[in-house]
Amino acid sequence: MTDFETRAVHVAQAPDELTGAVMPPLYLASTHRQDSVGVHRNGYEYSRVANPTRDALQEALANLEGGKFGFSFASGIAAEDAVIRATLKPGDHVVLANELYGGTYRLFNKIYREWGIEFDLADLNDEASLRAAIRPGKTKLVWIETPSNPKLTVFDISLTSRVAHEYGALTAVDNTFCSPYLQRPLELGADIVVHSTTKYLGGHSDILGGAVVVSDAELAEQFKYLHFALGAVSSPFDSWLTHRSLKTLAVRMDRHQQNAAAIAEFLVKHPGVAEVYYPGLPTHPQHELAKRQMHGFGGMVSLRFAGNENGSKAGTAEAIRFAQALRLFTLAESLGGVESLVNHPAEMTHSSAAGTPIEVTGDVVRLSVGLEGINDLLSDLKQALEANR
Ligand SMILES: Cc1ncc(COP(=O)(O)O)c(C=O)c1O
Repeated sequence: MTDFETRAVHVAQAPDELTGAVMPPLYLASTHRQDSVGVHRNGYEYSRVANPTRDALQEALANLEGGKFGFSFASGIAAEDAVIRATLKPGDHVVLANELYGGTYRLFNKIYREWGIEFDLADLNDEASLRAAIRPGKTKLVWIETPSNPKLTVFDISLTSRVAHEYGALTAVDNTFCSPYLQRPLELGADIVVHSTTKYLGGHSDILGGAVVVSDAELAEQFKYLHFALGAVSSPFDSWLTHRSLKTLAVRMDRHQQNAAAIAEFLVKHPGVAEVYYPGLPTHPQHELAKRQMHGFGGMVSLRFAGNENGSKAGTAEAIRFAQALRLFTLAESLGGVESLVNHPAEMTHSSAAGTPIEVTGDVVRLSVGLEGINDLLSDLKQALEANR
């Protein structure tokens, strides 16, 4: 099996041996009978250690990311937490891309700083800025989220990984906005891929999950141990739903990005919109990098409002009015589901970043473009923009 779409449907999904059921069963058992003391059937003993449904998902995730080992977690943040624990110890230093999800920043800024892990932010597209932020001997990890949340800045995974490796640091990439269908960081030189599977991989806004994929066996041992020792594993039912969703990932992503491209082109021409952030637009500052690094431009579009400079109150008022005037786009956190969502990052997903260097101004609105008909989506955007006039 070579095609992504074929692997998404078939990897770790062979019909059930016992009954021939085309869909393998969902194993809800928390524990497994031992044939004699310490003799486990196919390695299964207790669900925190391993569960057949979770194992199937993990195998599929690793395969689709082009890695060797996959780990499925209870949330994206739990997966990120495992990456930190697997790669860092007190006294170590991390370089973070200077745009990223507020919850990731919070993890470093509020939780791990107190445990002695230091960090600096850097513009990872500027090699000099990255090199200046690295503390030789102390920097053990460089963290990239690309495209970034919410302003869709694209960071260069190959360049960052090459520079990080020169200093003996690992590179972790949050691939949530792309999914492996659109971007495979391990193939570009990264060491660790992390996901909030709550988003495109789950795809239907009905699960909470995270994932880590690596190719290095020693790193994989660490994640396996953290799974077992800390227990932030995904439940069998969430694992099953996520695996089910992987099968339609390619077709969903195709439609997400087709709709998103049409919306970005519409917004860019609208006089009420000051700026549109979408990597597929030729005017996007990293459009050429996005073409090289990604296999498509994704389903997320953000915009900034006019009448406002530097996030002034007028821009914020327009952004909030617009977000609340949308009818088909639901005002909600999260992204990557079949339904379109609108989010006001400054007060929703990135509220914890207020007053920090990654603060998002109030004039920005983020759209997660769903699979609805494009005419309905465009009509909704038009009427909401009218509300601002
Ligand atoms: C880019 C990104 N990474 C990680 C997370 C955290 O994932 P979760 O909410 O599944 O814990 C999010 C959540 O919004 C996200 O947008």
